[in-house]
Formats: sequence, C-alpha cells, structure tokens
Amino acid sequence: MKNSEFILPDKIKKIIEGMAYQLDDVGKSDSCVYIFDEMVLKIEKRNVRNDETIEVMKFLDGKILVPKVICYEFDENYQYLLMSRITGKMACDEYYLEHPEELLQILADTLKELWSIDTKTCPRIRNIDVELAEAKYQVENNLVDLDDVEQTTFSKDGFKDPFELLEWLKNNKPTYEPVLSHGDFCLPNIFIKNGKLSGLIDLGATGVGDKWRDIALCYRSLRNNFNGTYGGKVYEKFNPDMLFEYLGIKPNYDKIKYYLLLDELF
Ligand SMILES: Nc1ncnc2c1ncn2[C@@H]1O[C@H](COP(=O)(O)OP(=O)(O)O)[C@@H](O)[C@H]1O
Ligand SMILES: [Mg+2]
Repeated sequence: MKNSEFILPDKIKKIIEGMAYQLDDVGKSDSCVYIFDEMVLKIEKRNVRNDETIEVMKFLDGKILVPKVICYEFDENYQYLLMSRITGKMACDEYYLEHPEELLQILADTLKELWSIDTKTCPRIRNIDVELAEAKYQVENNLVDLDDVEQTTFSKDGFKDPFELLEWLKNNKPTYEPVLSHGDFCLPNIFIKNGKLSGLIDLGATGVGDKWRDIALCYRSLRNNFNGTYGGKVYEKFNPDMLFEYLGIKPNYDKIKYYLLLDELF
C-alpha cells in the first residue's frame, strides 16, 4: 500500500505531528505500518470486521500483553490504528533461533497464559463455523493467495483447488476446544524482552477459537524458521515437536494438519 493513497485523519495527525518514524517492511499483509518511538500506526484497507479487533484489544488489555489502542479512526476506504509500541525482539530473531530452549519456554508459557483467560465476555468468536464462513468468502471471491501455500497443498497428491479443500474442511471438522486464541500465533507476531513475553501483535483474528489453531501456526512457524524455509539458515538440532514437551501435552497431528490446511485459504 502506498502512503499517497490515504489521507490521515486529523485526530491522528495531531498526535503524531512532527514525530520521527520508520516504515516497517516485515509485515506481509496489505498494510502500511509507521513505527514511532513509542507508538505504531497501522493503516489497512477498510474492513468492517476489523472494528472487532479494536474491541478484542481493549478486552485483552490487562489480561495479557498486547498493544494499547491510542486512537482508532476510519474513513470510507481505510482504517487507522494508532497503538502503543511493543518493544523487544521478535521471537524469530536470530538470538532465539540460537537459544531454542529459551524460546520454547516463552512460547509455551504464552500459550498457557492465553488458555487461562476467561473468554466469557470476549467480544469475538472465531469458532470453526466462523472460520469456514470466512474461508468460503475467500474461495468464492478468488482471494486465496496461491503463491503463499505449501507446495503439496494443491498438487497431484493434495487438493485440486481451493474449492475442493474447502469441501474437505467442511466434511472433516474437528472437535472444538475453545480458548482465547491469538489467531496468527507465528514468531514475527510475538515479541520478547528480558527473557519474557513483551507483547503479542497482529490481533486481526484474535477471539474465542480452538486451542489447536494457535498450536498449529506456532508449530509451522517454528518448523519453517528453524529449517531454513524463512531465514535461509538451517538449525539442524531443532525439532518443532519439542514444543509439546514444553506445553506438557501430546501432539494432535490431525488437528494441526486441519488448522494448517484451513490457514491455506487465508
Ligand atoms: N504494536 C506494535 N509494536 C511494535 N511493532 C509493531 C506493532 N504493530 C506492528 N508492528 C510492526 O509492524 C509489522 C507488521 O505489523 P502486523 O500487525 O504484524 O501486520 P502484518 O499483518 O503485516 O503481519 C510487525 O511485524 C512489527 O514489526
Ligand atoms: Mg504480523
């Protein structure tokens, strides 16, 4: 997204006027992110469903470390979220790839902290039916990014196309274990400082959802960060299954597979 496309709302302009910033280039989505000393401004195309994200961020404030909403505005085409800046290193920083025990402990503690949050008054539900409805929208409107899927997903050993995958997902719904789910629990969305979580960012799909949704994305993120898929460097000794030792649970590979396949449609 180019910064000439939108006009900053006055309220936000007033707050950030004259402050130095850097433009972020790590994020993948179609957004524009300005990083100030203590704040971050994330601008995205207008999507009414995103207003819930703000409610979820407010709901989580004080329950787990997430950015504070400073100002949220939108116009016909764009939305502008000014929030506090999370400091520390991303969980995919080379330091943590070199110190996997430290990383796995923090990831496991963070997942357990999410699972301990009382979800009764959480303003967003992301159960499998909600996810499948959004997946259907993605498929029917040709929004699935076929350049951003695992090679095997759509292949002669996999699915013919996103329609066939969607049918399979509808017919193979797993059991539901509701928890507070981040929704995109991958290493670049997790910040660490002084050996502890310093914040979770990118809360666009956060809500009450299945426990294995976050585990699956965490598992894939660990695998791809350590095996060289993302950073190029291979860490031979690392095995993503170590996550389950830190979580103290048995892996459910069927549910991991299901949630990774579902994620291919987003
Ligand atoms: N509150 C924040 N604090 C610190 N950095 C942030 C914050 N929000 C976004 N960023 C930075 O901007 C990048 C993109 O933001 P993110 O919300 O993760 O969007 P995307 O959907 O593009 O991944 C992040 O990887 C991070 O570097
Ligand atoms: Mg992100």
